[in-house]
Amino acid sequence: MKEHKNHQEIKLKVNQETYNIIVKANETLLNVIREKIEMTGPKPGCENGDCGACTLLVDGKPVKSCMTLAVEMQGKEITTIEGLKDTDIQNAFIDKEGYQCGYCTSGFIVNAYALLQEHNKPDDDTVKEWLSSNLCRCTGYEGIERAVDKVKKNR
Ligand code: FES
Ligand code: FES
Repeated sequence: MKEHKNHQEIKLKVNQETYNIIVKANETLLNVIREKIEMTGPKPGCENGDCGACTLLVDGKPVKSCMTLAVEMQGKEITTIEGLKDTDIQNAFIDKEGYQCGYCTSGFIVNAYALLQEHNKPDDDTVKEWLSSNLCRCTGYEGIERAVDKVKKNR
């Protein structure tokens, strides 16, 4: 890793591509992904870990990127909503109208994708527990649950 005054050059692997980026020591992964890599799928919401709009996957696990330092992500596999194009869960969100304004949607899809990777046919309580880490201000939860259900039932 090269070091500049208050900055460091790091390598980040995002959606199978490697990026060399100069970051500040305290820069969040959310900021780097959106402003430096220019992937705007992960959204800034509360920026304090509550809403989940910024969720992405790190080594397959959902992580709130507003609470994660970019410098700690070297050597990890990062997946954003852009890397989940045409997955069953993305298509189910469209089909079952799992969105209203759409601001929270990328975070929910990423989280639901991880849920369905970890549990083949999660029961209702497990689905609710996983989804409770994300907030939808349009209260579109029914459509989101229908989308998860669709993927589950097609397995
Ligand atoms: S923006 Fe990260 S949890 Fe709300
Ligand atoms: S669809 Fe609008 S915040 Fe969730």
